[in-house]
Amino acid sequence: MTAGVEHASGAQGADSLTHAQATIERLAPPVFNLDLRALAQLLVDAVESGAAVSFLAPLAVDEAEAWWRRTLTAEHSRAMVLVARLNGAIVGTVQLHPAWSPNQPHRAEIAKLLVHSSARGQGLGARLMRAVETEARGAGLRLLTLDAKRGAVAGELYRSLGWTMAGEIPRFALDTDGRTCHDAVIYCKELANADPVPPLPDSSSRLEPGNSRPL
Ligand SMILES: CC(C)(COP(=O)(O)OP(=O)(O)OC[C@H]1O[C@@H](n2cnc3c(N)ncnc32)[C@H](O)[C@@H]1OP(=O)(O)O)[C@@H](O)C(=O)NCCC(=O)NCCS
Repeated sequence: MTAGVEHASGAQGADSLTHAQATIERLAPPVFNLDLRALAQLLVDAVESGAAVSFLAPLAVDEAEAWWRRTLTAEHSRAMVLVARLNGAIVGTVQLHPAWSPNQPHRAEIAKLLVHSSARGQGLGARLMRAVETEARGAGLRLLTLDAKRGAVAGELYRSLGWTMAGEIPRFALDTDGRTCHDAVIYCKELANADPVPPLPDSSSRLEPGNSRPL
């Protein structure tokens, strides 16, 4: 059901496994109902903690599961879903969405980075991000983008992993209460080991037509 991405040291199934020893895998169809339920519970848990992950509170687990089912079975989807497992149970996830547009074959968006509240603060979020960046690099992608709620702890995580703040968008989305709004920070990261992209020579040339950079 899964293709290995990153393997933890230590014996699987041992009672002594910690969250730092979770295994990170790529989720591949067909996806077990148990996994779908766990992914749904992760989403509900994130919404309950006030995370900006598309949904409003309260989110019913059945609604969350239906969303995951649609996402994972969408025809023509090129999305890649990674999961972190501990003793077989999914405790974290992240998605990579390659851009659909023909003029952005090198770009993908990162979405739905979720670590269960019982497993946070132990490095799983960072490991998931590193793993998805490695997968992206392996797939030949060179530019990753994402958006995050301004002030959310995820911002610290992205910055610590070398992501650059590209800008902010005011009142981007509703908070989980459905009433107030929050700003979004747009982050980007050019992947190492891709061919170097030469910097623009100077600011005066930025408005010149034909100012393209080789991929
Ligand atoms: C964001 C999230 C994925 C982080 O997962 P995590 O496993 O707790 O993160 P890690 O333990 O790997 O932490 C990595 C870094 O993130 C930052 N960070 C994580 N939690 C933090 C907190 N509560 N306060 C401040 N910084 C924090 C730190 O820089 C940390 O590095 P450090 O441990 O060296 O200080 C998790 O909090 C989560 O699932 N939140 C709800 C969903 C969400 O908001 N997703 C992001 C959508 S853009």
